[in-house]
Amino acid sequence: MWRIVLFGALASALGGSAALAQETVKIGMVLPLTGGQASVGKQIQAAAKLYMEKNGPTVAGKKLHLMIRDDATSPDNSKRLAQELIVKDKVGVIVSGLTPSALAIGPLSTQSKTANVVVVSGTSRVINPGEPYMVRTSFTLGQQAQVIAEWAAKNGSRKVVIIQSDWAPGNEASAVFTDQFKNAGGEVADTIKVPFQNPDFSPFLERARGLNPDSLFVFVPAGQAGTFARQFSERGLDKAGIKLIGTGDVTDDDDLPGMGDAILGAVTAGMYSALHDSPLNKQYVADFKKTYGFRPNFISVGGWDGMHLIYEALKKTGGKTDGDELVGAMKGMRWESPRGPLSIDAQTRDIVQNIYIRRVERVGGELYNVEFATVEAVKDPLKK
Ligand code: PHB
Repeated sequence: MWRIVLFGALASALGGSAALAQETVKIGMVLPLTGGQASVGKQIQAAAKLYMEKNGPTVAGKKLHLMIRDDATSPDNSKRLAQELIVKDKVGVIVSGLTPSALAIGPLSTQSKTANVVVVSGTSRVINPGEPYMVRTSFTLGQQAQVIAEWAAKNGSRKVVIIQSDWAPGNEASAVFTDQFKNAGGEVADTIKVPFQNPDFSPFLERARGLNPDSLFVFVPAGQAGTFARQFSERGLDKAGIKLIGTGDVTDDDDLPGMGDAILGAVTAGMYSALHDSPLNKQYVADFKKTYGFRPNFISVGGWDGMHLIYEALKKTGGKTDGDELVGAMKGMRWESPRGPLSIDAQTRDIVQNIYIRRVERVGGELYNVEFATVEAVKDPLKK
């Protein structure tokens, strides 16, 4: 009897700390919570925390510990913070945000074989064969630019001027749009690049108007749509009869409520609208607004689905965070998101999702992206 009790006490004394360590899975998230792209960090953090609240903190018998770090929108900080999270804190999964940040963190996740879930970046090459532990739950600009180019060509646009934010995702949006629009017989009269930091769109809008296009294709990143819409209206482009088209970023649900009538009628191709008609999305929007007091936008669902992917992959591996096992479990996974059905391409590790064509309308007194057509299961066109 005594021997059994003693043996039990000894075993738990020896194994106790190791067992305790194994009971936690740390998730390290590097986000722009301050600086130029702070609205992006705000949306991702809100969605990730909401997911954990709704689904509980325990998966496959492990307690999840979310460690959020602010990179202040600087990729040098992202790299340093990710290094600390991987080496010192020994996180089981890393979550990365904006394109420059995801590019800086990529090699660290490869060297350490740590699963890296990219929840914001929209640049195709961030997910590539050389970084085998990276998986995307956000979107690519190509997915959306391709769809809106085709729609515009079929719906009366002949001469387009492009205004794009001058960095990687903007360049991809322009390249894919131009390719597709020209193939459909359209003309791109000019591609005007606007600085990424603190942009003033006014002089560029003047130049665009001077070229007399029938449509303006715009890419601005989340957080800049409000400024763009104000300057678009101040310069009178809405009254000049120029149609506004774009990827979903320019009619961001985060900024849309404050945009005013100049944005009415803008048609964009995007992966998420707060008005998306499904029971899951209605619940998501209601919970999100109740908890935070603002609308979830297209950035938020990258965070929500990033957490979903981590939860489901951990269930499959029985809580193990070995990079090969975890990423293996993520490949080919499919689920329903507040944005609609989506999957992770088993070959490329990139996201496959519906792209919706939407028009800005007033619904119940508020501006929304009203979806009116769907292109199903769209892959990143730059990876075909
Ligand atoms: C990106 O980091 O690639 C990014 C961020 C915000 C956007 C689009 C792309 O709206």
